[in-house]
Amino acid sequence: MGNERPDWRLETAPARRRRQPVAFSREAEPLAKDCRERFDREWPDCWMAAAAELDWHEPPEAVLDDSDAPFYRWFPDGRLNAAENCVDRHLEDRKNQLAIRWEGKRGEKRDYTYHDLHRESTALAATLRDLGVSEGDVVTFALPTLPELPIGMLACARIGALHNVVFAGFAPDALVERMTAVDSSALVTCDGYYRDGLAIDQKRKTDAALAALESTVPTVVVDRLGASHEVELEAHQYDYDDLIDQYRGTDVEPVSRAATDPLFHIHTSGTTGEPQRMTHATGGYLAGVTWSARAVFDLAPGTTYWCTADVGWITGHSYVVYGPLARGATVVLAEGNPRYPARHRPWKIIERNGVEVFYTTPGMVRTFMKWGESFPAAHDKSSLRLLGTVGEPIGPDTWKWYYTHVGEERCPIVDTWWQTETGSVVLSTLPGVDEMKPGAAGPPLPGMDVSVVDDEGRELPPGEPGYLTIERPWPSMLAPLESDHYWVLAEYWQEFSDDRADSWRYITGDRAVADEDGYVTIIGRADEVVTIGNRRLGTAELEAAITSVEGVTEAAAVAGSADGDTDLYVFATTAQERDTRDRAAIREAVADAMAERVGEFARPAAVVFTPELPETHSGKTMYRILERIVEDRPLEDSAPLRNPEIVGEIATLWARE
Ligand code: WT7
Repeated sequence: MGNERPDWRLETAPARRRRQPVAFSREAEPLAKDCRERFDREWPDCWMAAAAELDWHEPPEAVLDDSDAPFYRWFPDGRLNAAENCVDRHLEDRKNQLAIRWEGKRGEKRDYTYHDLHRESTALAATLRDLGVSEGDVVTFALPTLPELPIGMLACARIGALHNVVFAGFAPDALVERMTAVDSSALVTCDGYYRDGLAIDQKRKTDAALAALESTVPTVVVDRLGASHEVELEAHQYDYDDLIDQYRGTDVEPVSRAATDPLFHIHTSGTTGEPQRMTHATGGYLAGVTWSARAVFDLAPGTTYWCTADVGWITGHSYVVYGPLARGATVVLAEGNPRYPARHRPWKIIERNGVEVFYTTPGMVRTFMKWGESFPAAHDKSSLRLLGTVGEPIGPDTWKWYYTHVGEERCPIVDTWWQTETGSVVLSTLPGVDEMKPGAAGPPLPGMDVSVVDDEGRELPPGEPGYLTIERPWPSMLAPLESDHYWVLAEYWQEFSDDRADSWRYITGDRAVADEDGYVTIIGRADEVVTIGNRRLGTAELEAAITSVEGVTEAAAVAGSADGDTDLYVFATTAQERDTRDRAAIREAVADAMAERVGEFARPAAVVFTPELPETHSGKTMYRILERIVEDRPLEDSAPLRNPEIVGEIATLWARE
């Protein structure tokens, strides 16, 4: 890197107010109108703008090491500590400012200033250290949305340990699998929690998991249910409060980590692909989430912000914990489902706390829509100035409802597209800079470069749907461990020979379409596609053909290569129990319908009738379980299913075919 690097602190635009729909009053300044051009011109040096958002022990001289592409290393010679950036550096200016306000399900409130956050996370860091956790070790957290979760993550970051947050609702097997996979040396969990008014016994589940582990790991138990639920602590199990009381006041210096050292592991949600362990690196990840927390969510010190995501998913990691706290914001943390116990709860939380920036999912907005506008209308929402959504496409109708009834036609909406693997937002309009287009996520963020390509990787013109790919590396990108290289390469990267110096492309796995202005609309996951011969077929089209047959209610088409050749298999449910003759007739009708409506090549090798299809909690067919059955692969899978009992049954039915 040359030594004449420009000063990459963000240049901001002078204008504060613009015409609708980008107009809104910002606390922080909007980015300069030409920020995308500037970033493109100076890439990759431009990403020093993100690094400049952080405090470093050793500021990076180099931006990007691409000598082992596609295993890029960002800010390779920088050193920093993530917890210090999220906590310690705020103590001088805002130690008594609220960092986290927790609102429990039963109306409880707990407030943590930055000073409190420092004291508590340092005490837990000292505790973990004394339980034998050292730099580079992994601590698993199986906690619902409690303040102890961000505190725990920051405690780990402080001592250079990696956190591995696991969804609290997982069954013991899933917990064991996710602890073993990362060789976890400690566990933090709780006695239980409330789910829609019901007390769930978490400790019993945890004990079952611990018993299945090969070695004993020290376990810290947070008391969520209080006196109503006494738990027995066995050897190597400790009460969280007892430990913290003992260690409060112990000083723990933040460990200096290389920017390329891992900060945490997280598992992808597993509704589409295998639940896969992801790793993010300290410097690039923190720079990416902090920069985007500012550029996309306009978070400034003291901004009151509420994101409804569970802290255990990537959205919670990036935009409940790391990004907002590094920016010095005030984070509202609401336990449980914002829909429960009452339809007024979300609006009361916004009103009571003066929430300025609100980030949720299209699914949540659809629920609000179903309930009707009278609920948001009954509350003061004048504090709101920016809204966000993430997780799936938000249709124009839902978008408009959100814009009108929540944003009161004055708050911009950022429709943020990203993934566990990308770590931070990739596509989004920038508030105060870009016009919004309802239904389209938006253009790539400054410094990001995406394309929509065909099967061969050729860029498609605007209006033509294809595969969404990312053309250049970015700081918060997946940072796999050495041992992950093989599958990460197989799953995410493709090399293209073209005139770019660096020809690696990241495959997002989504289908999308771009318009003339470079705004991208996401269509959906591409892996709900089967490949037969050299043809790629959307499962939706095949299934429409199958369910056109009278008597078939639901269907899943999967491709499998049981004996070399790839064949198409159908799993279907029927309206009523059918006898053998009836089934044979339906089977034939299904095959004919597929051949007729899709093509002769789509004639299935087998049609299997089953009482139900395996489904996720959100009602999506879990294709990969069916694929495993077809390919005779082991079913040790611990995916969160709504109907896990059906898997064995389908396997038996399949074996009979
Ligand atoms: C997949 C990633 C990153 C946080 C949440 C989920 C879909 C995400 C959008 C959006 C349309 C979206 C994509 C993506 N997705 N955001 N704004 N519009 N689709 O993280 O579990 O890793 O899932 O969620 O299909 O690939 P994840």
